[in-house]
Amino acid sequence: MSHLPDHFRQRLNSRLVITNFIIPATLLYLIHRFGGILLAQYRLRRLPLINGTPLFGSTKKAKQNFQLNARGLLKDGFTKTDDARVVILSPESVNEIRNDNRFSFTHLIAQECLCYIPAFRNFNPHEGLNDMAKDVLLKRLTPSLSLVTRDMSEEANLAFQEHWTDNTEWHEVDAKATVVEIIARLSSRVFLGPELCRNPEWLRITIDYTMTVFHGIMALKKWPSFLHRIVWRFVPEVRRVNEQIAEAVRLIRPVIDKKMAQGKILPDGSKPAHLDVIQWASEVADGRRYDPTLLQLGFSMASMHNTTDLVTQILYDLSAHPSYIDPLRAEIETVLTEEGMTKSALARLKLMDSFMKESQRIKPSESLGMRRVLVEDVTLSNGVFLPQGTQIGIPTTPTTDVGNETESFDGYRFLNMVGDPSKEKTRHFVSTSPDHLGFGHGKHACPGRFFASHEVKIILCHALTKYDFKLAVPTRQPTSLALGWALIAEPGVRLLVKRRSNRSVNKAKLY
Ligand code: HEM
Repeated sequence: MSHLPDHFRQRLNSRLVITNFIIPATLLYLIHRFGGILLAQYRLRRLPLINGTPLFGSTKKAKQNFQLNARGLLKDGFTKTDDARVVILSPESVNEIRNDNRFSFTHLIAQECLCYIPAFRNFNPHEGLNDMAKDVLLKRLTPSLSLVTRDMSEEANLAFQEHWTDNTEWHEVDAKATVVEIIARLSSRVFLGPELCRNPEWLRITIDYTMTVFHGIMALKKWPSFLHRIVWRFVPEVRRVNEQIAEAVRLIRPVIDKKMAQGKILPDGSKPAHLDVIQWASEVADGRRYDPTLLQLGFSMASMHNTTDLVTQILYDLSAHPSYIDPLRAEIETVLTEEGMTKSALARLKLMDSFMKESQRIKPSESLGMRRVLVEDVTLSNGVFLPQGTQIGIPTTPTTDVGNETESFDGYRFLNMVGDPSKEKTRHFVSTSPDHLGFGHGKHACPGRFFASHEVKIILCHALTKYDFKLAVPTRQPTSLALGWALIAEPGVRLLVKRRSNRSVNKAKLY
């Protein structure tokens, strides 16, 4: 970790944290942690002094400081909460904890997302949805990426036509609002198939569900916890979650029934040809009971806004550094002209891969990653004792071991590592390492990152090849909003876009 500033390393090394307030939820957390995440209530057990740094004086001030300055608190080496202890470990601890079952991801989600309330049963470990989702992603979706590439690209074509239009004159679009619609289309095509991926009712649910759950959890947390199991039925925001689940069941159930019926009647015993999550889930279930609608909603939460945030950030970074646009277009043109839109072609887009990773390096989706809760007492190898119930996390920034130049944007950074055997395993967008925690690391590293990478590359191929785009207000670079641990690409930013001629890569090569 030689790249970390001394004061940062010292403070982190001494780890620590604790606080006394209800942490605000943030949308992006919801997304990462399969469905979820929210900030929880942390109970004060004791207030430590970290490296002699005084703790905050008042609860309100501490809460405000966490909401607005969580990143700064990390650099200082501590923060405070209310309902549990949150210890910030140094990045050196990543390898020690990454596969240790005593550091539980599942219990953290369950605890923070009130999994004992029926409306939030997505987060209940006993529903087994997280395990199912991981199996579908790692055993079926990732190995099938080559089979869904053309479908996704075809959907990207239709979605861009609708949201960025074929207008060859400059016109304004809302960057994030259009990107989320495009991603909802591509993802739903793979998760549910062509029937629902263009259904406006489903698209609204898959986009809005995360926020609905977020509002529901926050509304219920305003009540004392001993009343949660009674009052949830009467809290409008929680009722809305249940209504949305019912709407999703109404839309998805007939599609599932139809596919299942088709799947069962294959005469030759071969596998049905559906390439979607409905089919894959039924294959990997292996006797496990699961609710397919909740699984779909879990996929929506885990994937939609995280990927949207990354693509939006990349568009902002391209607008800030337009000199990358021509080299990226040239790379796309060379590769797609040679082999069309295929999985292996996307893997050859090395500058694009490097640019994506650099965007994520500079602005990961959260400033504290690998958050876990301890299910047993643990003493770390450096002697630090962590009692059961402690929450931990590891800062995600600065994340890359690149000497002193950690802050400046360099889209070639990871491309320049090609040929360096020591970086070969970590330079790819989908690689995880202690130095780059954008997707976590270890046994809970994001299992959707291969799909996300594929999807983002397809979207960028369409955006760069078919459109010119720039910030509508060029004098003001979009910021990222730090809300609690979440780092969010600024919403509401307008882009000017116009359709280019299709001379360079013709339609047939894109989908
Ligand atoms: C750019 C987009 C994405 C980002 C930045 C992202 C980031 C993350 C992060 C940071 C974690 C937690 C890792 C940890 O704590 O160690 C995570 C977990 C997870 N992500 Fe993603 N993710 C993205 C896209 C997706 C997509 C597209 C899917 C599904 C299709 C997905 C499904 C999951 C699941 C199921 C988990 C839980 C893993 C477990 O329980 O072990 N993610 N993601």
